[in-house]
Amino acid sequence: MAIEAEEPNRRDFLIVAGNAFIAVGAAVTLWPFVAQMNPDAGAQALASVEIDLSPVQQGQAITVMWRGKPIFIRNRTPEEIKEAEDTSLSDLPDGSARNDLLPESAPALDSNRVKEGKTNWMVLVGICTHLGCIPKGQAIGDSKGDYGGWFCPCHGSHYDTSGRIRKGPAPRNLEVPPYEFVSDTKIKIG
Ligand code: FES
Repeated sequence: MAIEAEEPNRRDFLIVAGNAFIAVGAAVTLWPFVAQMNPDAGAQALASVEIDLSPVQQGQAITVMWRGKPIFIRNRTPEEIKEAEDTSLSDLPDGSARNDLLPESAPALDSNRVKEGKTNWMVLVGICTHLGCIPKGQAIGDSKGDYGGWFCPCHGSHYDTSGRIRKGPAPRNLEVPPYEFVSDTKIKIG
């Protein structure tokens, strides 16, 4: 895989995959890298992964693999958080929070898709709910769609900064996987 130098103050894109314990090293602030796109069968079977978020600066995003799925993690800016929080439920095609830790009836408020006190961290299963493409919005220079979140170019689905579907054929919001903060800067997914 190629390793490209990038300016450290821009959004970084990082895919890490594999181990039971994944520490996203300080290298993320120096250069992004693609470690591995396809985890082996053993990695796919892992029930949980731990991710150190401390190198991910505000405005940056990383992608990790969990159970063979890409997990999008974005450290949202205050503007992105405000936009997500200010969105009216009546503007959302899918009114469900789609949070694996909440009942399906939980409304799609931004607060139901993030952790209290950690509202800058957006953690999503990065699979379009239309036909399963991987949306754009993680890599430097990607289109983030009309709502500043993620954009699926396969058939034109636009997700907002909370990962909620806003426009296009996708029927559901991006799923929030089960995860918890195990320390101030570390999450455990699964
Ligand atoms: Fe994403 Fe169709 S798979 S819009």
